[in-house]
Amino acid sequence: MSGHGEPVPMTARRSGALRGVAEVPGDKSISHRALILGALSVGETRVSGLLEGQDVLDTAKAMRAFGAEVTRLGAGDWSVHGVGVGGFAEPADVIDCGNSGTGVRLIMGAMATSPVTATFTGDASLRKRPMGRVTEPLALFGARAYGRHGGRLPMTVVGAAEPVPVRYTVPMPSAQVKSAILLAGLNAPGETVVIEKEPTRDHSERMLRGFGAQLTVEDAPEGRIITLTGRPELRPQTVAVPRDPSSAAFPVCAALIVEGSDILVPGVSQNPTRNGLYTTLVEMGADIAFENPREEGGEPVADLRVRFSALKGIEVPEDRAASMIDEYPVLSVVAACAEGTTVMRGVKELRVKESDRIDAMARGLEAMGVRVEEDEDTLIVHGMGPGGVPGGATAKTHIDHRIAMSFLVLGLAAQKPVSIDDGSPIATSFPVFEGLMAGLGAQIVRSNA
Ligand code: S3P
Repeated sequence: MSGHGEPVPMTARRSGALRGVAEVPGDKSISHRALILGALSVGETRVSGLLEGQDVLDTAKAMRAFGAEVTRLGAGDWSVHGVGVGGFAEPADVIDCGNSGTGVRLIMGAMATSPVTATFTGDASLRKRPMGRVTEPLALFGARAYGRHGGRLPMTVVGAAEPVPVRYTVPMPSAQVKSAILLAGLNAPGETVVIEKEPTRDHSERMLRGFGAQLTVEDAPEGRIITLTGRPELRPQTVAVPRDPSSAAFPVCAALIVEGSDILVPGVSQNPTRNGLYTTLVEMGADIAFENPREEGGEPVADLRVRFSALKGIEVPEDRAASMIDEYPVLSVVAACAEGTTVMRGVKELRVKESDRIDAMARGLEAMGVRVEEDEDTLIVHGMGPGGVPGGATAKTHIDHRIAMSFLVLGLAAQKPVSIDDGSPIATSFPVFEGLMAGLGAQIVRSNA
């Protein structure tokens, strides 16, 4: 499991033009939700295209611990026999969510309104991350949580035996918090209302409706008001998971900065709550064609044809942050290879991800010879133009898959090789990254091989 085993140092070298088709894995957010909602339905849910990254495998294991039957039928094909809303059994052991904030927070929500007690833990990265943002609203349903100082894991959650519905305004832009409350609301009588001031990824809303819950969304001056009617009988579904736009970001950004590249990334979700990176890249001058737009698994998808581009720095609109929150690390790599300055404001949520991503990117980029500025809520990268980044250093990845992949992408276009201290976390979200990138012609190796 990531963060538990031996570190895997890796090195990326300046590469020739990237060519070919990059079939990236299934969407991580949708994969977690498919397993959890499948476990809360009565009957068999079938999932195809499930991301078989460690984060999602840990959620599958957790759903088994709560009583669901979860079976792998073939590559990406899974079956979940659920126990129904309110049907969770008490786990016999500690639930280890590994590296996954989404896994632990959504599962805490899903069990918080059932009369069961569960203890959660995770790897060294997850044990540093704040859980108070979910346990505070879950307490309003009647659940109790006992964790380490600062609301950190390991943490025991005692589910409410007689939950009450909740009306809650989420104080930070967080789809995980929103989703935890909605999942808890499933087993509370009456209407649970979640208000988000800024829209975040809406997979929970789409999928809850798909599984038969009654859920309405209203845009009001105070924000997006989501109302869920509790105690539905969720109907098992067939879920086709679209490819993950956050994983697609790595080959896409690599092709944009490696001279002569021309690649196709098929079937990538273009859900408007997820596609901020692509809008930003186009504004920077990226040559991306969104071909064959269609709907798959209830999500808008397109095939992305991406060619090397001369990019210019821009100011990323602050209100776009939530729709590209996981993509700032790789955007800052692209920004380093662009002409001019890229300003990323309103990004303080990056500080509580798998690592403090503002700090991790700033220190790593500086080590590679790039000038950056940062404050609590801002990252500014001074671009060095195509082929202009010196490289020649090792970046620390802090048990963070996206930091690891971002610096490997940078190495494909930097003057000297770029190394990372540990590539093992990549398996949490993109287990086929090395093979996929090698297939495009990227020079990425395990440094100690
Ligand atoms: C996710 C929400 C985001 C994102 C994470 C996945 C989700 O986290 O960073 O990778 O699936 O709901 P926050 O809710 O903390 O913003």
